[in-house]
Amino acid sequence: MSKIIVAIDGFSSCGKSTLAKALSVHMGYVYVDSGAMYRAVTYYCLQKKLISAAGKFDEKKVVNTLKKIKLSFKYNPYAKSSDTYLNGDNIEKEIRQMKVSNHVSKIAMIKEVRDRVVDIQRTMGKEKGIVMDGRDIGTNVFPGAELKIFMTADIDIRVQRRLDELNSRGEHVTYEEVKINLMKRDYDDTHRKESPLSKAKDAVVLDNSDLNREQQLEYIERLIKDLLLTKDTLSI
Ligand code: CDP
Repeated sequence: MSKIIVAIDGFSSCGKSTLAKALSVHMGYVYVDSGAMYRAVTYYCLQKKLISAAGKFDEKKVVNTLKKIKLSFKYNPYAKSSDTYLNGDNIEKEIRQMKVSNHVSKIAMIKEVRDRVVDIQRTMGKEKGIVMDGRDIGTNVFPGAELKIFMTADIDIRVQRRLDELNSRGEHVTYEEVKINLMKRDYDDTHRKESPLSKAKDAVVLDNSDLNREQQLEYIERLIKDLLLTKDTLSI
């Protein structure tokens, strides 16, 4: 059966990566978390003290530092997805911390950062058979993706999901802190100049506020089955 690209975009913490991972396992596809790449660049800048406590940074210095960053990914069978490596070090845990979340959207606004990251993403999708989640996957990275999903969910449900995730990793933050972070990032991501988060015209909207993991997976699996059947019938 022919392989396709599944592009999943949407707001922060609405379960994109949960769905993307489950789909990749179901289809035997590669899962790529595009946000991890922006998080990795942000983490490097924080390590190098290029971002002040108030969140200020010199854009030129950030752009200059890109040549010192080598991103790679290695499949982790326990997580059933790939871990992110920065210059050879596994930084999968570190990039999920709130201190990274608090600055990532500003770093992701920089054109040169996006160009570099999008380049890597397009290379990863060359052979298709990929599920990628992010903010601009269906609109900019793979505008020709065969299936585009735009995910959303009620803000309080998203906050609770992210809070539970952070708590389970041992990072103790308040509900308010998480809510402020999600709202700020959603605002920055939808209002930036370079490929802002928006629904691609041909994307299917999935509001999963009242759906559990199994229900949302079932719904999308059905869509994919129909799509693949039509695609293969058309290409005969
Ligand atoms: O997990 P969550 O949905 O909270 O965020 P993420 O997917 O890890 O992405 C972190 C941040 O990276 C987003 O808030 C965006 O600012 C940026 N991002 C982006 O600009 N474009 C993408 N394709 C993916 C992420």
